[in-house]
Amino acid sequence: MSEIRRITVVGAGQMGAGIAQTAAVGGFDVTLSDVAPRQLEQAVSGIEASLAKLTEKGRLDEATRDAALERIQTAAEPADADLLIEAATENVELKLRIFAQLDEVAGDGAILASNTSSIPITRLAAATKRPQQVVGMHFMNPVPLMQLVEVIRGLETSDETVTSVVAAAEAMGKTVAEANDYPGFISNRILVPMINEAVYCLMEGVGDRESIDTVMKLGMNHPMGPLTLADLIGLDTCLAIMEVLHDGLGDDKYRPCPLLRSYVAAGRLGRKSGRGFYEY
Ligand code: CAA
Repeated sequence: MSEIRRITVVGAGQMGAGIAQTAAVGGFDVTLSDVAPRQLEQAVSGIEASLAKLTEKGRLDEATRDAALERIQTAAEPADADLLIEAATENVELKLRIFAQLDEVAGDGAILASNTSSIPITRLAAATKRPQQVVGMHFMNPVPLMQLVEVIRGLETSDETVTSVVAAAEAMGKTVAEANDYPGFISNRILVPMINEAVYCLMEGVGDRESIDTVMKLGMNHPMGPLTLADLIGLDTCLAIMEVLHDGLGDDKYRPCPLLRSYVAAGRLGRKSGRGFYEY
């Protein structure tokens, strides 16, 4: 098992920033990279705000917060590290390009991981010359608060790679569940069809948005209703995952709800665009 000390996170969106923060709190030296300088600035201020909130709530002491901030560097290009975690937009062509690039930048022993929510790890691994060292590390949103990392084994992923990333995730304070490389893995195979069904309930007038969310929140003890959660995840991401399930499994039960398609077409993407099923 190769020991991981330095981590590069590629992509400074909401997920990338959360992963960088969690890794730095876990004691890793982190480089957060993004081609867009503004994205990096926003990510760093988001990390500062999140760490401040956690400190205020007594979940983190001040020394750990300060040390974590010192361990994070930013860069326009991905730096070599022991573990490189890609957290770019959920677009297969983009991710394939990034994996080919990371394979050039990273040293021979480095592990390449993807935070993809549904793109096959085996496909990303095939864009590199080290498929045994490619693995899925699927963090949940919001990363600093959620306990789980789903670790996905591609067809060629070695046991040694899995052992190394499980140890790294645990050092970040997370609990790992392992999954094999089928569409949507475990998490989104179950979660996103539930959200899609909630959108059907809305489209067909089974209930309004508040009723649908209240039933699942208070009736099933979910921390958020499915429509509120969809707004948090991003409706474009939910639609992309339904399409992966529909294409990959070929079963009509995974057809994306037409209302979900319309919201995405209208640019109502959830919290990030200011409007989804709710207004922000
Ligand atoms: N860092 C630090 N603090 C944060 C934060 C962050 N990134 N995000 C939110 N908080 C804070 C909030 O500001 C809030 O602070 P205050 O109490 O001071 O207002 C606090 O955390 C908690 O907020 P809540 O009072 O709403 O607390 P909660 O008990 O409802 O917990 C939650 C919030 C953990 C997000 C909870 O609602 C929850 O678990 N929701 C479900 C989330 C979920 O299912 N995530 C998975 C999505 S699927 C995914 O990510 C994978 C995919 O591929 C699609």
